[in-house]
Amino acid sequence: MAKSKPDVIISKGLDDIIVEESTISYVDGEKGRLIYRGFDIETLAKHSNFEEVAYVVWNGDLPTKSQYEELKKQLAANRSIPGEVLSILKLLPKSTHPMDAMKAAVSALAPFDSELQDNSREANLRKSIRLTAKFPTIVSAFNRIRNGQEPIQPNHKLDHATNFLYMLSGLEPTVLAGKVMDTALVLHIEHEMNASAFACVVTASTLSDIYSAVVSGIGTLKGPLHGGANEAALKMMNEIGSPDKAEAYVLKALRERRKVPGFGHRVYKAYDPRARIFKQYVKDLSEAKESTLQYDVASKVEQVAIRELGAAKGIFPNIDFYSGIVYNLFGIPTDLFTSIFAVARVVGWAAHVMEYLEDNRLIRPRAHYVGPLERAYISIDQRQERKLAVTTLP
Ligand code: COA
Repeated sequence: MAKSKPDVIISKGLDDIIVEESTISYVDGEKGRLIYRGFDIETLAKHSNFEEVAYVVWNGDLPTKSQYEELKKQLAANRSIPGEVLSILKLLPKSTHPMDAMKAAVSALAPFDSELQDNSREANLRKSIRLTAKFPTIVSAFNRIRNGQEPIQPNHKLDHATNFLYMLSGLEPTVLAGKVMDTALVLHIEHEMNASAFACVVTASTLSDIYSAVVSGIGTLKGPLHGGANEAALKMMNEIGSPDKAEAYVLKALRERRKVPGFGHRVYKAYDPRARIFKQYVKDLSEAKESTLQYDVASKVEQVAIRELGAAKGIFPNIDFYSGIVYNLFGIPTDLFTSIFAVARVVGWAAHVMEYLEDNRLIRPRAHYVGPLERAYISIDQRQERKLAVTTLP
């Protein structure tokens, strides 16, 4: 065995490891605050919209009216995806997870971008706009294709969020639905150095291209410990079925040391401010639809889980606890939830890539080797037969 140095500190999970200085966003985990470029998330959710917040996150300040109109115009003008990429989506098995379809589509889009290899901030910003504009088109096109329907062309007159809902269903959503989707996107745009942002930055730090970085982000976001938690949270609400069964369900889960999906966070040790905003929307939408069952179940789960975990472990609802219910109320299939997260988060990923490249350093950590150092090589015909863990191919 290699000698284990007593002074080696292993940062499993990189908890609290700072990898750079950033001005993009700040999470105050103790107070439950989230700030994009100095603006409180509650303020942005109330007064701003997806296009304006994307401008803020990419450029560091609120846009003037003409800057805002210009970005809106560019985002609307770049929504279409090449027919070749649509053909790739059509070739995928219908059972493909939408996040895998998204990875395939973004990879395929890269060679169509004439500025692919240009890593200047200006070119990366233009690519960020093009990518962000196309994400809702990719998600809605794949969803329709897998259901045997033709993709719906983007409507350039609609804003980003409303057009997304329109492309998913083919129907123009109500003003409330458009506003709720817009806010959902705003809340998901950015969240400091989370796992997927870090994955993007790792890829960018090799001086690869922004499309590759974003593909890394999509793959990382897919996991249930990150973007996939809202699917699991909704599944739990449905399994519970009624508020009077919530307490027993949560207590049993905790007894069996299972995690409550949509609860807990590496950084927040207080109520996630985004969950609070989502909760209100779930209530408003549920009441408008006269269908409050999931909201009632969620409220009861929340009450019990906070009682059991809140003060004791600093575990509170995170953004994923209520977001799935909102999307479900829109009639969006559960396996599309993480893709909606990505539709928004691509903005933050791009911002991190651009910021990191301003002062790039290849990200290359170390592993502490604890395996053997000096083994004798035995030629294959002299090795003893033994049961090897060789995978048998089907
Ligand atoms: N339900 C119940 N207990 C939880 C919990 C949850 N959702 N999240 C964390 N805990 C408990 C762990 O069991 C552990 O308890 P222990 O110290 O008695 O062993 C303790 O809290 C620390 O958990 P750990 O998983 O090490 O913390 P982390 O910093 O890695 O957790 C998450 C962050 C997000 C991975 C974790 O809270 C989780 O898995 N949550 C559910 C999935 C989720 O909602 N993800 C979306 C995040 S936005």
